[in-house]
Amino acid sequence: MPTLQEQIEESRREALAALEQVGNSEALEEWNIKYLGKKGQLTGLFRGVGALPPDERARAGQAVNTAKQELEEAYTRARERVVERERGQQLQKEAVDVSLPGRPAHAGHLHVITQTSRDILRAFRDMGFQVYEGPEVELDVYNFELLNIPREHPARSMHDTLYVDERLIGLRDESRPPGDTPPMMLRTHTSPNQIRLMRKFPPPIRVVVPGRTYRAEAIDATHEAYFSQIEGLAVDKKVTLADLKGTLATLARALFGPERLVRFRCDYFPYVEPGVDLAIDCIVCSGTGCRACKYTGWLEIMGAGMVHPQVLINGGIDPDEYSGFAFGLGPERIAMLRHAIDDIRLFYSNDLRFLQQF
Ligand code: DAH
Repeated sequence: MPTLQEQIEESRREALAALEQVGNSEALEEWNIKYLGKKGQLTGLFRGVGALPPDERARAGQAVNTAKQELEEAYTRARERVVERERGQQLQKEAVDVSLPGRPAHAGHLHVITQTSRDILRAFRDMGFQVYEGPEVELDVYNFELLNIPREHPARSMHDTLYVDERLIGLRDESRPPGDTPPMMLRTHTSPNQIRLMRKFPPPIRVVVPGRTYRAEAIDATHEAYFSQIEGLAVDKKVTLADLKGTLATLARALFGPERLVRFRCDYFPYVEPGVDLAIDCIVCSGTGCRACKYTGWLEIMGAGMVHPQVLINGGIDPDEYSGFAFGLGPERIAMLRHAIDDIRLFYSNDLRFLQQF
């Protein structure tokens, strides 16, 4: 049977050796319980001290104490080592490789119709036109009446109108009797801005007006309820049809290439006299005839004409002193021709596979 001294020494050596092997905080805690805990070996040895003859107790007690102190210090040092090591492992696990290339930020770009509209506006800017914008919710008088399109006029049936119930949008003038508020609508074209411009600015006027327009259309590959237009108006002394032709031929060639042929034919719009439609020789077949031009050799791109004298009067301008031309074109149609797009619905269906091509 080993003496208590020998047991202390044995325990001490065993404990210190075991501590060397401890690699993480769980093992360290187990070690602590095993040697220094309430039921640990050292505590057990203290109990052995009480069983010794009284004259040996002091020495033995001191020996256990010394061993305990030594183990506690060793424990503290081991804990520092383990904590340090675990912190290192943690850092390594969470390390960020700062040399990795970053994730690219997704940058959007202009919608193809915005691009097309800007191309058109730029061409007009180069010819000295300014840009003006008008309201999308428009008064019936501006959209129709003042443009020579009275109620019962057949031209109204081509504009399936989305009327606005002014009570619903809080615009109704409560001081007026019900039904007395002037009718309002989503504008069916940008032409009402002709009146707005003439009433606001004295001639000479050279302005283009881009904007959204709305119609209660049966939607198909060539009809949308929502689309955009660009209106143009030039009013001055001695403006002639030759000015109109020169301006629009220049635009057509800016958009579709300098070799473009242009064709002006009579057309009817109530607010111009004479009215014309402008066509270019087909950009696909150069006029020989193909599916794109429906075998006519020509692509119609816009309506135009000399501002009707009554419309000048409605705008507050004397038709004996001034004359003007006006035109309206659709950026969707221009974009469809330039990019060979065969369905207008693609523009507003938010399919990125389509939109990212432009
Ligand atoms: N407002 C017409 C439309 O929506 C386009 C147009 C035709 C505008 C002739 C004009 C014009 O200014 O003179 O279809």
